[in-house]
Amino acid sequence: MTDTNTTPSTETKEQIVTPWEVEASAGGVDYDKLVNQFGSTRISEELIARFERVTGKKAHHFLRRGIFFSHRDLKEILDHHEAGKKWYLYTGRGPSSGSLHFGHLLPFLFTKYLQDAFNVPLVVQMTNDEKFLWKGITIEESIEYTHNNVKDIIALGFDVQKTFIFSNLDYIQYLYPNAIKISRCVNLNQIKNIFGFQDSDAVGKFTFPPIQAAPCFPDSFPHIFDPKDPEIKAVRCLIPCAIDQDPYFRMTRDVAQRLGYNKPSLIHSKFFPALQGHNTKMSASDLNSAVYLSDTPQQVKDKIKKHAFSGGGATKEDQEKYGANLSVDITYEYLTFLLEDDDQLKEIAEKYSTGKMLTGEIKQILIDIMVKIIARHKEARSKVTDEVLNSFMSIRKLNF
Ligand code: TYM
Ligand code: TRP
Repeated sequence: MTDTNTTPSTETKEQIVTPWEVEASAGGVDYDKLVNQFGSTRISEELIARFERVTGKKAHHFLRRGIFFSHRDLKEILDHHEAGKKWYLYTGRGPSSGSLHFGHLLPFLFTKYLQDAFNVPLVVQMTNDEKFLWKGITIEESIEYTHNNVKDIIALGFDVQKTFIFSNLDYIQYLYPNAIKISRCVNLNQIKNIFGFQDSDAVGKFTFPPIQAAPCFPDSFPHIFDPKDPEIKAVRCLIPCAIDQDPYFRMTRDVAQRLGYNKPSLIHSKFFPALQGHNTKMSASDLNSAVYLSDTPQQVKDKIKKHAFSGGGATKEDQEKYGANLSVDITYEYLTFLLEDDDQLKEIAEKYSTGKMLTGEIKQILIDIMVKIIARHKEARSKVTDEVLNSFMSIRKLNF
């Protein structure tokens, strides 16, 4: 059985999850259903325990709290690592806006944790070609967004010795040989099934997926993995991403072995939901759905106060009497992503759900945390000069 034999997600009416669109019923994205449809595997307690043994560290709170919740062949990566064999991390960003939003922090912060924990090389693909095709922006805009987004990514603390960031528009000649090998293995029917493209869609969309697939194969990076090494094709790849990106890699996994590579492994996160509620994800396409790393403290305050969907009582009296419904409360959900202290989170959940804490109070806690993260980010980003950016993006050997 192949990964793409599963029903395409676009066929279910009540829930749509593709790399370009996330729409669910009011109850939020049904992640169990998604795991079944996509054919991935839930991350078990056992796997988390193994993670802790292999890394010798307490698991990241994204793992402990089920925010990274699904995977493909993660065990193979851990086996490979324990056997002392080579592997690398691959993630990316489609620069569709001038700044990252908090949703983008999930895969990038988690990737940094993995890089630190395992001491492996990381490649980051900037799909400015993709955003040109999908977003109606100009090439010049896509290049400018790339530049600004790369600075945001670097400011999260990646190690320049172990990290290569590349823009598709510039790096395409290295990706192209693998991209055409992949494209010869996938026909139009399969592409339409996996991605839901229509006959009226631009032809560029149909030929894009192999370009996002190519970095899964180590010989797309001859400066990192020695092309003369007879074992080069055995180097494994682990992709941290939100689960919306899975279709690209189902496609890749289907062709990998035919081309002589291992299937890439994946570790999937849930979505940081839009302020308006659980039924969609934070999106760069709607300014009021997301909090950006470039927002001012006042903007953060306004967005959370006005737009963060509340599970609290409609009035102060109601809240004190009945408490809040945490399962729909966006402010609380954001805290589960951003508040690392388990005890503090537990105390907030207790008080807010029983009416001992008001919506305004929990929102203030979140505002303070977000404002602090943004201030720290701004400080770190101010140190990312064009020279620093060039050093991450230059074609060079890495040390690992
Ligand atoms: P992009 O720019 O849409 O998103 C970048 C990364 O952030 C994840 N993401 C989110 N995670 C949690 N909550 C959200 N609301 C949210 N929105 C986005 C995405 O899943 C992604 O991991 N085509 C890709 C770029 C890409 C890529 C990759 C991503 C190229 N190669 C390999 C991951 C792995 C894109 O447009 O991502
Ligand atoms: N991450 C992209 C964005 O934030 C993905 C995206 C494109 C998207 N179009 C969308 C997400 C529509 C939700 C809805 O722009």
